[in-house]
Amino acid sequence: MSLVSASFLLQHAQANTYAVPAFNFHDLVDVQAIIAAAEAEAAPVILMASEGTIRFAGFPYVEGLAYAAAQEAKIPFALHLDHGRELDNIIKSIRHGFTSVMFDGSHLVFDENIRVTRWVVDVAHRVSISVEGELGQIPGAEDDISVTAQEAGMTDPHLVAEYVERTGVDALAVAIGTAHGLYKGEPKLDFERLAAIRKATSVPLVLHGGTGIPDETVRQAISLGICKLNVGTDLRLAYTGSINRAVREQEINDPRPLLNIAREAVIEVVRKKIRLCGANGQAKVIGA
Ligand code: 13P
Repeated sequence: MSLVSASFLLQHAQANTYAVPAFNFHDLVDVQAIIAAAEAEAAPVILMASEGTIRFAGFPYVEGLAYAAAQEAKIPFALHLDHGRELDNIIKSIRHGFTSVMFDGSHLVFDENIRVTRWVVDVAHRVSISVEGELGQIPGAEDDISVTAQEAGMTDPHLVAEYVERTGVDALAVAIGTAHGLYKGEPKLDFERLAAIRKATSVPLVLHGGTGIPDETVRQAISLGICKLNVGTDLRLAYTGSINRAVREQEINDPRPLLNIAREAVIEVVRKKIRLCGANGQAKVIGA
């Protein structure tokens, strides 16, 4: 099955009140695990590469992994650039077969965020690639992007309609109380703010920082309009945790058994998140 745009998946999720889970990946093991889990659950998913992953693996490998998976995959999925800040990386992503890009201009002042995001949208839409924008700033550390709680600001619902209209984005990442990485306490989401944002725009809304949010809170966010849930840290913990345990228990000098253990651990986490998002079974009805 060929890759599809994230926008196509998110429109279906929005119409049917579920969220497409979007997973950060770093290597072959992650890609195989995410696609195997999605197939087992008959779910659409989004593979996300951050700028850190692109620095680690390089565009040709990132592209190669996703397109190798697409040759056999029986579910629709998108290849998405997560938190693109460098315009170079946006253009290279488009040239390397990504079907969706995020331009993260959340650190810029409002008008500048709009101006650069509009430029990205103009370029991406010419080649049918969808664009996610961000308004407000999500705290925490996502690879090399680190936003302190002090710098972070929640999305202002009053600015949403103007931002979406002037930029033309296909999806909007919102800051409503989640954070990248691990939470110190239980995250408290501002559902009133989410409802006000939902009223202000009809584009699909994206929740970042999907690790460590209680299941009931995720379900409520989806019922209020979240159509894409980003998850990264949970996969990294499953991957490295399973390897650490195996190495402690026995001496292993072949990476393959270790990587098999890691792949199984990631599959388990991905399947849980798919079901939490209500995306299981949706690949059968999406019509890709
Ligand atoms: P977590 O690492 O907290 O799951 O967040 C991932 C994310 O939002 C990527 O954009």
